[in-house]
Amino acid sequence: MVLRISTGIKGFDKLIEGGLPKGSLTLVSGNPGTCKSIFCLQTAYNVASSGVPALFVSFEQDEENLSEQLNQLGAKIGKVKGLKIIRLEPEDPQVMTKILNAAKDVKAGLVVVDSIASLTSGPSKPDGQNYTTAQILDSVIPVPLDAESLNRMKVKLILDTIRQTGATALLTSEIIRGQEGYSRDTLSEFLCDTIVVLHSVEGEDAYRTLNIPKMRLTKQKMGIYSFEVGKKGFIVKSSE
Ligand SMILES: Nc1ncnc2c1ncn2[C@@H]1O[C@H](COP(=O)(O)OP(=O)(O)O)[C@@H](O)[C@H]1O
Ligand SMILES: [Mg+2]
Repeated sequence: MVLRISTGIKGFDKLIEGGLPKGSLTLVSGNPGTCKSIFCLQTAYNVASSGVPALFVSFEQDEENLSEQLNQLGAKIGKVKGLKIIRLEPEDPQVMTKILNAAKDVKAGLVVVDSIASLTSGPSKPDGQNYTTAQILDSVIPVPLDAESLNRMKVKLILDTIRQTGATALLTSEIIRGQEGYSRDTLSEFLCDTIVVLHSVEGEDAYRTLNIPKMRLTKQKMGIYSFEVGKKGFIVKSSE
């Protein structure tokens, strides 16, 4: 039987047989402004409220900004223990170690990395200790690798490392309008277990939708579902 962790997002869990498989990696993909961070923040808050510690790692927003965002969504952040928000710099050579240590410190059952693109497309190699070129080369077949192959190994190692925490993970992935695929590194979508895609349709009758094109161990609902973000939080309007 698959153990699941409920996101607590109204209307969402029933699309995914009740929750995300424990220990799975979910890519939350979409253009800028499609509410990726909000989806993950709401989930982290809900999970923490249910008594499972959650770690939210941001490379873009600080704790104060994210706390204010939560307040706007009707969250009572002061009342919830077990939600840890940290801001890190993706260029920090110790960034992966810091994520792992923070996850361990809070005994995180859920880890959010916002965004994975900041880590995988940054100019520097994450965590020199864990990701020297020599080590990457050691772990693959002994042929010379070009920069692109090395980068793909880096993406794989980052995702493997996050998986090793044992926590269920949400990784946001910013895609550029018109770009094919679900991540900028073009590999994460194959390595993650689940992909949630968020869209916003602009115009006078603007609306937002989400769909779940991939989900291992789950017969997810395959429709396109509209959702809203407001004072009551992130709400998916699934018809059933
Ligand atoms: N309090 C709020 N109520 C309703 N919508 C909001 C609120 N705060 C932010 N938003 C919407 O959410 C969008 C940003 O969401 P965010 O999760 O930061 O996007 P992403 O991470 O995908 O770039 C904003 O462009 C805005 O439309
Ligand atoms: Mg964001």
